[in-house]
Amino acid sequence: MLPTVVLTHKLPPDWISSLDGRVQAYSGPTDADKLAPELEAFLPDAEGLLSLLTVPIKEELLARMPKLRVVSNMAVGVDNIDVAACTRRGIPVGHTPGVLTDATADLTMGILLSAARRLPEAARDASEGRWTTWSPTGWLGADLRNKVLGIIGMGKIGQAVAERAAGFGLKIIYRNPSHLPLVEAQFAAEYASFDELLHRSDIVSLHCPLNVETQHLIDDSALRKMKSTAILVNAARGPVVRTDALVRALQEGWIAAAALDVTDPEPLPPDHPLYGLENCLVVPHIGSATHGTRKRMAEIACENMLAGLDERRLLHCVNPEVETKI
Ligand code: DGY
Repeated sequence: MLPTVVLTHKLPPDWISSLDGRVQAYSGPTDADKLAPELEAFLPDAEGLLSLLTVPIKEELLARMPKLRVVSNMAVGVDNIDVAACTRRGIPVGHTPGVLTDATADLTMGILLSAARRLPEAARDASEGRWTTWSPTGWLGADLRNKVLGIIGMGKIGQAVAERAAGFGLKIIYRNPSHLPLVEAQFAAEYASFDELLHRSDIVSLHCPLNVETQHLIDDSALRKMKSTAILVNAARGPVVRTDALVRALQEGWIAAAALDVTDPEPLPPDHPLYGLENCLVVPHIGSATHGTRKRMAEIACENMLAGLDERRLLHCVNPEVETKI
């Protein structure tokens, strides 16, 4: 008998073809923002769970899945999962680092440039008839060469952003849990304290994971330490920034602009004040949204799940202490 697995979302068949003939899979709808009710019946028998970041995998759900042997998240971030609870149950948790680095760094540069050069506002003015002449003072934005880019979270994605930013002549400073001498040499990057980074940066770009240390890292006090001309870019997780503080900062000019791929809450409701601000660009969490990247993420998520079911080591596991018992 094939093992039962639950996929919280329906994914394109060619992304998950490695599961064919290996498991009995039950999928929720493509756009589910929680576990779909039609999947509940399969929870007691499910040995594998393939999840997206929109579905919380916490004690309450795990308790209803007594046969669960592997959780595989189709994301690099695992903040939707109670990893400690999985570890207590001896369940390995897989994720998909590496394959989405370039796509996310590209998107970061895209929204950074859009905010710096006010592209959404300029495009709207053009299409709505406000482009009446070549205006010497119209739609002026920020120069980038020799400006300071402060990267918070110098992991794979932070480094890929640094690589791209160097091509624009930006000087890199960074904040990370530890010094990274090789990265410093490669990008002429300078390690900075949190406050120093906020004070010195013309652009602050967030690439850290969401955890107890980084939740609301960018709050009123942090935003007030930034330059009034600074741009905040968030391609990490929405709750790293206090949304109400950001609204105040943008409305009252504590900083110049924000470019957000992620928000808190997510999705941001259509009537949210951030949408009404000319100096705020919001895109719907699309950092990894390229054809090739999303397919590769799904393939790795399937590979992690099959490995867990076969009691092999996962390709990428966030709680490898569980696997040492294998
Ligand atoms: C992740 O993988 O964690 C991204 O936020 C979505 O691709």
